[in-house]
Amino acid sequence: MTLTIAIDGPAAAGKGTLSRRIAEEYGFHHLDTGLTYRATAKALIDAGLPLDDEAVAEKVAREVELSGLDRSVLSAHAIGEAASKIAVMPAVRRALVEAQRDFSRKEPGTVLDGRDIGTVVCPDATVKLYVTASPEVRAKRRYDEIVAGGGTADYDSIFEDVKKRDERDMGRADSPLRPAADAHLLDTSEMSIEAAFQAAKTLIDAALQRKI
Ligand code: CDP
Repeated sequence: MTLTIAIDGPAAAGKGTLSRRIAEEYGFHHLDTGLTYRATAKALIDAGLPLDDEAVAEKVAREVELSGLDRSVLSAHAIGEAASKIAVMPAVRRALVEAQRDFSRKEPGTVLDGRDIGTVVCPDATVKLYVTASPEVRAKRRYDEIVAGGGTADYDSIFEDVKKRDERDMGRADSPLRPAADAHLLDTSEMSIEAAFQAAKTLIDAALQRKI
């Protein structure tokens, strides 16, 4: 039986770093599902195709190769914005969710992070975490990330973006961002990455113990 760890949460909550560490710790395959939405958006933009045509976007979504996803190529702010726009389209979500579910069955186990993993993609996941932090902390983390990468950033506009993205992700009709009923909540507002990892590990170890 494949063990699956579902990690959901809002923009810049620290899911990515946490998921990669968890996958490494347990020797599991990791999929950042946000990249599947970003790759679809980038392919549309690169081909000069519209971002508001659901049939076209679905066709492009079905061609996304999960093995070729690279966050450094997909990290641009405009791609993130475009991703959250096409992510409201049910046909796009169906196509990407199918590919994500196939991935989740890889042996010996998988870690998937996103917005709807515990609720829609892997409702039977072995363990579900909902990782969050206050909008202020998330905006600060994103700000620090950009500055550390040598870029320039404006905290206030990042904060506005974070709130706008939350509204779009939580307010959409298809698969809105929300914790699954059986998810463990992990508020990392006051936690370092290391502390968040240790808290997650304790929850995961307990869940795996029950399954094995
Ligand atoms: O890293 P960031 O928080 O900017 O977002 P991301 O994980 O790269 O995802 C980009 C966008 O894709 C999100 O704002 C969501 O609208 C969408 N997404 C989704 O709808 N469902 C997922 N499972 C993952 C991402």
